[in-house]
Amino acid sequence: MRIPVIIGLVLFSLFLCMYSPCHASRSEIEYLQKMMNSQSSSLGSVLDANWKHLNSKDSFFSSMSIGQKDGSMEADKVDSLPRQPKGLEFNQYAGYVTVDAYSGRALFYYFVESPQDSLRKPLVLWLNGGPGCSSFGVGAMLELGPFRVNSDGETLYANEYAWNKVANIIFLESPAGVGFSYSNSTSDYKSSGDKRTADDTYMFLINWLERFPQYKGRDFYITGESYAGHYVPELADTIITKKKNINHTNINLKGIAIGNGYFDGVLNFKAMIDYIWTHALNSDETHEAILSTCNFTSGNFSEKCYNALISASMEIGNIDGYNIYAPICHVLPKAKNKTTSSMKEIDPCAEFYVIAYLNHPEVQQALHANITGLPYPWTVCRLAI
Ligand SMILES: *[C@@H]1O[C@H](CO)[C@@H](O)[C@H](O)[C@H]1NC(C)=O
Ligand SMILES: *[C@@H]1O[C@H](CO)[C@@H](O)[C@H](O)[C@H]1NC(C)=O
Ligand SMILES: *[C@@H]1O[C@H](CO)[C@@H](O)[C@H](O)[C@H]1NC(C)=O
Ligand SMILES: *[C@@H]1O[C@H](CO)[C@@H](O)[C@H](O)[C@H]1NC(C)=O
Ligand SMILES: *[C@@H]1O[C@H](CO)[C@@H](O)[C@H](O)[C@H]1NC(C)=O
Ligand SMILES: *[C@@H]1O[C@H](CO)[C@@H](O)[C@H](O)[C@H]1NC(C)=O
Repeated sequence: MRIPVIIGLVLFSLFLCMYSPCHASRSEIEYLQKMMNSQSSSLGSVLDANWKHLNSKDSFFSSMSIGQKDGSMEADKVDSLPRQPKGLEFNQYAGYVTVDAYSGRALFYYFVESPQDSLRKPLVLWLNGGPGCSSFGVGAMLELGPFRVNSDGETLYANEYAWNKVANIIFLESPAGVGFSYSNSTSDYKSSGDKRTADDTYMFLINWLERFPQYKGRDFYITGESYAGHYVPELADTIITKKKNINHTNINLKGIAIGNGYFDGVLNFKAMIDYIWTHALNSDETHEAILSTCNFTSGNFSEKCYNALISASMEIGNIDGYNIYAPICHVLPKAKNKTTSSMKEIDPCAEFYVIAYLNHPEVQQALHANITGLPYPWTVCRLAI
């Protein structure tokens, strides 16, 4: 039985906090293998359906896609984003890198250099999760990028906690179908999965470094959160173990970091159920009913389990699953006048400002995004992926 949408939403919006930074070292391969093995204990779990064993046809080493110079750093330069605050001096770039010329798959990136001494600072790739959520819209515009969007959906303000103060950051919209990233073979969207995501991201890096050769050999870190608990180690593994036939000195992987990582669907779900209960969002009866009737290993939900999950969802009500003590967005975004936002306060509607901003044609033009006229608007996450 498929997880009903309502439960699915609760599930995917309630990732629990597990912060597990780790650094690649001499034993990095073992470490990664261990992490990846820990993920496989949820094999068969419906929660990870389609994402686990996904194998793309190995068009990966098609020479058409490797080292292809299908763009340039100069062409990708963003002079400034529309209505960005004045007085911020750093280079920003955005554009597409083709990762599969045969299918016509291209990934969109936004790259910000450090204002000072960027040549001496490391290169960091940031990945959001989902699967299907945008590293640009969420990672850059709501979390660690240099700018955030004001409540008018038009103007930007500076993020005082921007990571590009200490590193050069690539935000990659991945896999194809997320945000501005696309494939000309729309069947690709139905066959997305971990393996192809790792292969495509690897291909992205190889080709991106041809466009930005000054970053070849630079200290490189892979970072991300949530479902990137899969992407980050899988990409590191791809770089380290699988692709020895490409000049590896280009990608000088030094470490990985994962925040709020999603590794194991079953474990994650159990932890979530307990979290909800221990935070007085579910009754003892409902909690007990879930534990005694649901088998998340098999993913085959009985009628009783289904009913218990519905009760759980109703008892929780409409709250922010990421931050149960925070307010939720009530005001229709359009009805709101501009307020200068503050980093110190949580604005539950912030996501809507980003959606408004990134759907402006002139913003997309400045970003060299959506050059093929994608037949749908930019969204934070695409569940179809
Ligand atoms: C996708 O198709 C469009 C229209 O034919 C073309 O301009 C674009 O370059 C193609 N993208 C890729 C990555 O091949
Ligand atoms: C490998 O990369 C290094 C550093 O960028 C470069 O000097 C060298 O020529 C490359 N070798 C090959 C075979 O491409
Ligand atoms: C849950 O399902 C798995 C796989 O079908 C089965 O091996 C296991 O015994 C079940 N557990 C319970 C408590 O029913
Ligand atoms: C799922 O569980 C039901 C009983 O709740 C059982 O009749 C059915 O055979 C199970 N299906 C699978 C694929 O295990
Ligand atoms: C928004 O601003 C306009 C013009 O300043 C004002 O007339 C209107 O009442 C404001 N709306 C809200 C919801 O504050
Ligand atoms: C791409 O641009 C078209 C207009 O050419 C617009 O209708 C569509 O919403 C845009 N899609 C995305 C993903 O930005």
